[in-house]
Amino acid sequence: MPVLKRIAEMQGEMTAWRRDLHAHPEIAFEEHRTSAFVADKLREFGIEVSQGLAKTGVVGTLADGDGPSIGLRADMDALPMPELTALPYQSTVPGKMHACGHDGHTTMLLGAAKYLAESRNFKGTVRFIFQPAEELAGGGRVMVEEGLFDQFPVDSVYGMHNQPNMPTGRIAIRAGIGMASAASFKIVVHGRGSHAASPHHGIDPIFVGSQIVSALQSISSRVTNPIESIVVSVTKFHAGDAVNVLPDTAVLDGTARSFAEDSETSVAGLIRRIAEGTATAHGATADIEYRHLYPVLVNAEAQSLIAENVVRDLLGDDGLEPAFPRTMASEDFSFMLNARPGCFVGLGTAFEGRESHPLHSSKYEFNDEALPIGASFWARLVEMELAK
Ligand code: NI
Repeated sequence: MPVLKRIAEMQGEMTAWRRDLHAHPEIAFEEHRTSAFVADKLREFGIEVSQGLAKTGVVGTLADGDGPSIGLRADMDALPMPELTALPYQSTVPGKMHACGHDGHTTMLLGAAKYLAESRNFKGTVRFIFQPAEELAGGGRVMVEEGLFDQFPVDSVYGMHNQPNMPTGRIAIRAGIGMASAASFKIVVHGRGSHAASPHHGIDPIFVGSQIVSALQSISSRVTNPIESIVVSVTKFHAGDAVNVLPDTAVLDGTARSFAEDSETSVAGLIRRIAEGTATAHGATADIEYRHLYPVLVNAEAQSLIAENVVRDLLGDDGLEPAFPRTMASEDFSFMLNARPGCFVGLGTAFEGRESHPLHSSKYEFNDEALPIGASFWARLVEMELAK
C-alpha cells in the first residue's frame, strides 16, 4: 500500500495506541483518560497542547513559519453498548465500546502529528483538533460555541471517518452535501386507561400511538416533494405494564433526517400536526417535543478538490472511491464545516477476505491496516496545502 515511508514504519506503534484506546472506551464528555493519552503524546512529540475546550477536548498546535493554518479533526468518544468481538484487546469497560472506530480516528491523527513534528515539511500552522462526544451529544458544536476557531484560528478544516464497507486503500470525497441533518422527537399520547376487556370505557393510547406511527410515514411518501430526501423513523414505543390493562399513556421517540434545513423545519411542523390531529381524531391528546440536533454536512468545493488531489498523489487515481453515496446519517463535524470551509472524507477500512461488520455493531472491528493510510492522508494534506 503506497503510504509515506516514515508513517509505514510507525504501523506497530500506532496499532498499540489504537488497541490501548480500544480497551478503554469512554463516552460523551467523559473522555478523561483518552484526552490525557492524547495530550501526553502530543507533548512528547514537541507539540503545544491546550486542554479543556468542551470539557475533554484537546487542541495541539504545530507552527513552522508564516503561512496559512489548517485544522485536522478526530473524534474520541465511544458508544454506550456492549462489545461482542472477543478480541484480545476488547473493551474492559462493561456496556461501553469503540464501535464506530473513533479510537482509529484518534490514532491516525496522532500518527500524523508525530510525523509532522519530526519532518516539518510545511510552512504555516497545523491545529490537531481532538473532539469529545460526537455520538449525538454534539461535542463539535460545543467546541465551536466555546470559541475553538477564535482561540485557534484556521483557514480550513478537515475531518475523516472510517468506512468498513469500502475497500482499504481507497478514500472517498464528495463535494457539496454529504450527510443529512438530524433531529429527535418525542410524542407522549395521553389516553385514558381501562380494563383490556372493556376498551370502550377508556381511550387506548397504544392504538392511537400505532396510528401516529403509520401516519408519520405519509410525510416522506405523500406530503413532501419526492425529490427531497426525508426520513422519519419512530425508534422507541413504550406503553403498558400488564396484559389485561390498557394504560393511560404511550411514549414514542424517533428521529428525522433531511438534506435541507428548511425541509427539516417543515418536517417539525408536520410531525406536530399529524400527532396532534391523529390523537384528536380518537379523543386523545398528544404532547410533542422536537429537537434539532445536527445541521446538514456540506463539503466546500475548493477543499474537496484539494483533498482529491492529495488522494491521487498518495494512492493514485485508483485510490479515489468512484461512487461515494450520500447518506442520511449525520455527523457533528457539520458544525465545524458551517464555521470554516473544509471537507469530510471517507477512509476505506474493509478487511480483505473476511466479513467487515458495520459501524455501531457489537461485532464491529477497526482494521489496523488502514492506520498508515489515514495518517499519511493527513500528513500529505498538510504538506500539499501548506507547501513550502
Ligand atoms: Ni463515528
